[in-house]
Amino acid sequence: EFVATIEGRTELSRTLSRTLGIPTVHVVSGDSDQHAWVKSTLGLQAATVLLGALQPSDVIAVAGGTTMAAVASMAPSKRQPFPVKVVPARGGLGEEVEIQANTIASVLAERIGGTSMMLHVPDRLREDTLEQLLADPYVQQRIPEIRNASIVIHSIGDALRMAERRQLDPEEVALLRHHGAVAEAFGYYFNEAGETVYAMTTVGLQLSDLERMRLILTVAGGHSKARAIVAAAKAYRMDVLVTDEGAAREILNHE
Ligand code: BG6
Repeated sequence: EFVATIEGRTELSRTLSRTLGIPTVHVVSGDSDQHAWVKSTLGLQAATVLLGALQPSDVIAVAGGTTMAAVASMAPSKRQPFPVKVVPARGGLGEEVEIQANTIASVLAERIGGTSMMLHVPDRLREDTLEQLLADPYVQQRIPEIRNASIVIHSIGDALRMAERRQLDPEEVALLRHHGAVAEAFGYYFNEAGETVYAMTTVGLQLSDLERMRLILTVAGGHSKARAIVAAAKAYRMDVLVTDEGAAREILNHE
């Protein structure tokens, strides 16, 4: 099925980089939709890229999800403390605790020898509750640190699959369908053209904050994420994409 040779994957990376307009692309072998170990390989590759890019005083904003959990658990343990801080990218997106950004931030910080900061924000906030929360000193102190992070690391999801996992209301799902949402990242939903069609009400990183960051590292694999990756790549800048052959081939078959 897959040509897992290094030459084959280097060629895939180059083609994908050109197609998506992402300067650096790494393609690991396999398809994470088919084999669970591929997600660990993705995680290891992404953690290696991250460690290679770290500079003292970096603030790393991490998103949630199973891919990010793999990045944290596969990150090689450092013996020496390293002066970086890991923060959750956004609060309260409706994920299970193991794959919440807070949890992943603390695991990753522990492994790379840095410190972490939590952001406790409940899921599914109403606009007025959000306003109250934003006035809270605890939140006010944390938000700027997240929004001014130097590095962000995240994954991308298929829009409707993420809507289901986060138990969005039927009205919200209908709206996503109506607007042709295909991708989701950081709680933002995008259509095929990369336009934001819906955003979840929570605090933390805003899409516009990405522009200021030194490194935007995206980790997403599995053939089922192909469409989502293409759409998200149109929505915001990505500096490095770590993906797998399953997603890479599916993207190139359709572009
Ligand atoms: C997160 C992103 O990192 O990963 C989400 O913030 C994305 O927006 C999610 O949908 C994907 O989750 P998973 O479990 O497929 O890695």
